[in-house]
Amino acid sequence: MNIKVIGNYIGKFAELWEQSLTDLIKEGVEGVLADAQIDPKSIDAIFVANKASGSFNNQRHLGALVSEQFAHFPPAMRIEGACASGGLAMLAAEQALLSGVYKTVLVLGVEKMTDVSGSETAAILATAASREKEYGSTFPALYAILANYHMNKYGTTREQLSSVVVKNHLHAFDNPKAQFHKKFTLEDVANSAMVASPLRLLDCSPISDGVAAVILSSKPSSRKAKILGFGHGQDTLALADRQDLGRLAATEKAAKQAFLMAKLSQTDIQVAEVHDCFSIAEILAVEDLGFFAKGKAAAAIAKGKATYGGQIVINPSGGLKACGHPVGATGVKQIAFLANLIEKGKFERVLAHNVGGSGATAAVNILGI
Ligand code: COA
Repeated sequence: MNIKVIGNYIGKFAELWEQSLTDLIKEGVEGVLADAQIDPKSIDAIFVANKASGSFNNQRHLGALVSEQFAHFPPAMRIEGACASGGLAMLAAEQALLSGVYKTVLVLGVEKMTDVSGSETAAILATAASREKEYGSTFPALYAILANYHMNKYGTTREQLSSVVVKNHLHAFDNPKAQFHKKFTLEDVANSAMVASPLRLLDCSPISDGVAAVILSSKPSSRKAKILGFGHGQDTLALADRQDLGRLAATEKAAKQAFLMAKLSQTDIQVAEVHDCFSIAEILAVEDLGFFAKGKAAAAIAKGKATYGGQIVINPSGGLKACGHPVGATGVKQIAFLANLIEKGKFERVLAHNVGGSGATAAVNILGI
């Protein structure tokens, strides 16, 4: 496989009251073209990741909105897979490049969530859960079920959940694009407002606006970051239909495919951006990706094994938890952030993991030099 990330851009993740959805798209396109330093005409096609602009902003048809930023109107399509939209847009772009139909493509993820109230946002996000079997549940409530299960089965503790949050807010402190630059203690997390027991406010990723973009190309390039492998896993939409609430089978399947394609194993990976929409989600992710044994990740994270100087660095951007989670942008941000680390020579083998809903969809990408 010969696909490189020849441009990457991440806009500031925050509540962006001064910017519209179109402003964010323009910023993403201009930012990534400036980084790639290529003629805009060389973009053959566009893949736009977005979960719910129709509901958040009364604007669907985002492919057209991104395409019109270019004088030659490249073919464009929107990809939706709940919070995994960005990861799925990457997979679609990679498959298009591998087919040989296109040589250079733009993948842009965007979400503008703060134009509606908090309760409307929760209801819009909940459309990614099973309407028939989980009606009335919010995502914090669904992940609370997974957290309670994990705590009962594996002995995961309140303090261990908090340690994920403390670590990711610490990582975000050094990321200028992150939504939060605030350090928290274990006690701060454990005493924050209850959202859905056992998950508290600080266990949750926030509501965010943001854009991220990458340009992928199969043409020769001096850029370093290469796609080494990718995988896509699916599972039942409703938690009630799952065999085992202690794991996300979609993540396991996606990881297996990606590692096989990359001809690498978990011990080769130095750093990973994983889908920590809630503290428990990071614990599940690093177990299901195979970085830690099932039931052992929470203790390992609490002991510092998932940060600098540990076994692997998990979520150096701050993750969804502290960098922010503008849902359609998240999976693309993970790739842009990791590609930038590779360009700067900081790491050579990295992994991105993006989940839709409570684990019905998962996308994994492995990058390297
Ligand atoms: N992490 C850290 N701080 C947060 C935060 C978060 N997730 N969410 C809000 N805050 C902070 C705000 O900055 C604000 O701080 P300030 O008082 O210093 O300004 C304070 O907490 C209250 O913010 P507010 O906007 O009133 O929070 P809220 O109660 O409306 O929303 C949640 C908090 C947790 C309910 C909301 O962020 C949420 O629903 N998150 C989950 C999103 C989700 O489900 N995504 C999909 C995942 S699959």
